[in-house]
Amino acid sequence: MNQDDLKRLVGEAALDFVRPDSVIGVGTGSTVNCFIEALIKSGMRIEAAVSSSEATTSLLQAGGIEVIDLNQTGGLDIYIDGADEFDAHRRLIKGGGAALTREKIVAAASRKFVCIADQSKQVGVLGAFPLPIEVIPLARSLVARKLVGLGGQPEWREGVVTDNGNWILDVHNMDLVDPVGMEKAINNLAGVVTCGLFALRPADLVLMSTESGVQQL
Ligand code: A5P
Repeated sequence: MNQDDLKRLVGEAALDFVRPDSVIGVGTGSTVNCFIEALIKSGMRIEAAVSSSEATTSLLQAGGIEVIDLNQTGGLDIYIDGADEFDAHRRLIKGGGAALTREKIVAAASRKFVCIADQSKQVGVLGAFPLPIEVIPLARSLVARKLVGLGGQPEWREGVVTDNGNWILDVHNMDLVDPVGMEKAINNLAGVVTCGLFALRPADLVLMSTESGVQQL
């Protein structure tokens, strides 16, 4: 099986966690796209979805799924999203697709966060994947200098503008042995919208696809 097959497998497995006629939160990325495809193919009726990006909104709507604003709903039963890395405590790095801020908001609004990923995303310690951080454009250099002070090497993802009109810094070589502490420290920097660490609110369940099937962590 190649990585695309593993993404399809775990995207389909996530369907088991969706309650018919419910409102669900939907993340962003190629693995989530497999979930959306499986959801549409299944013909399961859901009331609506809250989306974490313009890209996901387009896909859902193209498949006939109504997308509603988070302000129109109460808390969500479930949020399904991918990750760039996850550890044994289900803490994540996200934001490879630049959708981290809306993803963090929808995750915070959900009672259960099911992360779907293939086995290549599993790590012992987070941080091999450069940590994405969404910044207010005016603060890019200021935040970059502060991140150097925190031990990282930030790189501007030039040309990328988030759905919220902001910019992304990808931080290399961050020491993330204390992801909760680092998430708080980065989120406290003036000019940071949010960082791609999901440690304060980790996933509740990781579905990991492997050659021999989907495991629940
Ligand atoms: C989007 O900003 C990210 O958080 C994605 O969830 C993450 O990059 C996983 O994407 P893939 O499923 O495409 O690997």
